Amino acid sequence: MSLDPFKVFMDLQLGLPRNGPGSDASTARAYDLAPRPEGKDGVEVLVLGCGAGAEVMTLLDFPETRVTAVDMMKPFIQELEQRADAKGNVAGRLRTVCEDFEHLSVPKGVFDLIWCEAAIYALGFGEALTLWQPFLKPGGAIVVSEAVWLTQTPSLNAVDFWDRMYPEMKTIGETTALAEQVGFVVESVFTLTKEEWWQEYYTPLRIRIQKRLADLLGQGIEALAVIRDLEEEMELYETCGDEYGYAFFILTPSKGKA
Ligand SMILES: C[S@@+](CC[C@H](N)C(=O)[O-])C[C@H]1O[C@@H](n2cnc3c(N)ncnc32)[C@H](O)[C@@H]1O
Repeated sequence: MSLDPFKVFMDLQLGLPRNGPGSDASTARAYDLAPRPEGKDGVEVLVLGCGAGAEVMTLLDFPETRVTAVDMMKPFIQELEQRADAKGNVAGRLRTVCEDFEHLSVPKGVFDLIWCEAAIYALGFGEALTLWQPFLKPGGAIVVSEAVWLTQTPSLNAVDFWDRMYPEMKTIGETTALAEQVGFVVESVFTLTKEEWWQEYYTPLRIRIQKRLADLLGQGIEALAVIRDLEEEMELYETCGDEYGYAFFILTPSKGKA
């Protein structure tokens, strides 16, 4: 009997420090750069595609935040809740919602910040900004990390991989132009370093794969296909990691919007 590829994927991802490239430092840097309301009311943050919530934990380190965290995978939400319990200083500042961020049930017009790290690709950058903008309060901002080309002349290997995985991937300039086209101003942009891909994501993922490999070898072709895809992604980053990366975009609606 072969294993469900989804179960294999979740088993590899659960318990990792993060579920995508990033770091506490880059989350905190983006938070510092984002416009936020002053005063006693605090900062209402909607985190979309939170996974097991690495960025949620960092955002909760700022005592003024209240976070609504959304992911469609129940096991990730459960792990986030365990992390928050273990953290201990969250008391009443975290709400979790297990749902599709294309069909949000949370109220519109109440969030100071909408936050999405390494997940906006699932909807598409322009589509997501348009869909999520009504959930912002006036004066609010959207903060996203998005995969980008860092060169105009990528190698064939990189083009071949990303044409299959995320053909919509653009340069920072093209992504900025798309944000403007759908009614946003790009207030700040910065890129993740290579260490921020390896330290908390790829290196722990590789160790996890090595630990599970013996078990998975006997579990059928689907289980191995999950590992092959992840290994292909990491090997490409080893050889072509200068050609693409992740960039944080801090975005506010253009005048006249929200
Ligand atoms: C690459 S992981 C990033 C997780 C987390 N933000 C991080 O950086 O560690 C992408 C996450 O987006 C979630 N996701 C993808 N599509 C989604 C959707 N349509 N609605 C809600 N969550 C989604 C996945 O379940 C996954 O947890």
